[in-house]
Amino acid sequence: MKIFPVIFCLIAGFGFWSQASYGSAEDCTKCHEQLENPFKHGPASDGCTFCHNPDHSVNTGRPMRLLEEPNKLCLMCHDGIAQEGHPVQGHPLSGPKDPVYPRRKFSCVSCHSPHSSQSRKLFRYDFSMNTPYKGSICALCHWKMLNNTPKPPPPPWSDYGR
Ligand code: HEC
Ligand code: HEC
Ligand code: HEC
Ligand code: HEC
Ligand code: HEC
Repeated sequence: MKIFPVIFCLIAGFGFWSQASYGSAEDCTKCHEQLENPFKHGPASDGCTFCHNPDHSVNTGRPMRLLEEPNKLCLMCHDGIAQEGHPVQGHPLSGPKDPVYPRRKFSCVSCHSPHSSQSRKLFRYDFSMNTPYKGSICALCHWKMLNNTPKPPPPPWSDYGR
């Protein structure tokens, strides 16, 4: 019988989330980790609520309680990219499938972390010389176009904070 644990979680969860409405962004790192990576994204260091709904009891209708589609959020500030284009000229910036993690849509955050990163330009993945990708971000998604060896396993999706 699986129904008992489900009901238990709903009741316990409701008690928890009904109190879980936070005023200020600084409140978030009481429960979520601090951003530890050396390269931090300005808006994520300043707060979290530009992009996320702070109230955990609200369903925004999007994953991760996002207030908008990722690309819309990004282009609100990076409006130069909306007008003049992105540095990887002509490359698609959105699509139905992220080739590395196909259950996600393809968007700005397929290549960049919205929070922080180990590398410049806030890249999401480590594709440095000591990885199979040998310094090429392009090889992450276009391995077969660039190599005739079997595709190595995808690098881990770098989650929030790390
Ligand atoms: C009282 C502790 C607490 C505080 C404060 C808090 N959170 Fe959370 N948050 C949680 C828990 C617990 C989860 C659920 C983890 C899970 O189920 O993946 C969660 C989930 C999330 C998720 C979804 C993660 C996922 O993988 O689905 C986001 C995004 C998030 N919180 C953002 C925020 C933001 C932004 C703030 C500040 C405005 C904040 N949280 C404040 C405890 C907290
Ligand atoms: C609230 C405004 C704001 C939003 C929203 C925003 N950014 Fe930024 N972003 C900045 C600022 C300011 C900088 C430059 C300074 C910094 O990183 O602190 C920056 C820097 C960057 C950089 C690094 C540039 C470099 O030269 O290293 C990347 C990449 C980036 N943002 C991608 C994104 C992506 C992807 C999103 C959407 C998930 C996004 N940004 C959303 C304000 C924003
Ligand atoms: C510029 C927009 C932006 C800001 C600011 C921002 N986030 Fe996010 N966050 C996103 C996007 C887009 C995703 C979904 C894609 C992903 O997982 O990286 C996300 C995902 C998450 C997740 C899900 C875990 C994961 O990485 O898959 C958590 C938890 C989270 N954010 C917490 C926070 C907290 C806490 C802050 C403030 C310190 C914050 N975010 C600031 C855009 C943002
Ligand atoms: C296919 C991967 C990919 C996608 C998708 C992508 N970027 Fe980038 N982005 C890059 C690369 C690679 C660079 C670094 C170019 C360089 O410096 O050589 C970059 C650079 C940047 C920079 C730094 C600009 C500068 O002047 O140095 C910003 C800001 C940025 N991207 C934002 C975005 C936003 C916003 C989106 C979504 C609308 C996006 N990126 C989608 C790969 C990507
Ligand atoms: C995170 C995954 C990802 C990365 C990294 C990436 N691409 Fe792409 N690329 C895509 C997707 C998705 C498409 C669109 C669907 C397709 O054609 O496969 C695409 C399409 C293309 C196309 C075909 C363009 C078109 O309009 O049909 C070229 C050429 C290309 N990418 C080159 C590059 C180069 C060069 C780099 C490195 C700077 C790069 N890509 C990095 C995901 C990525």
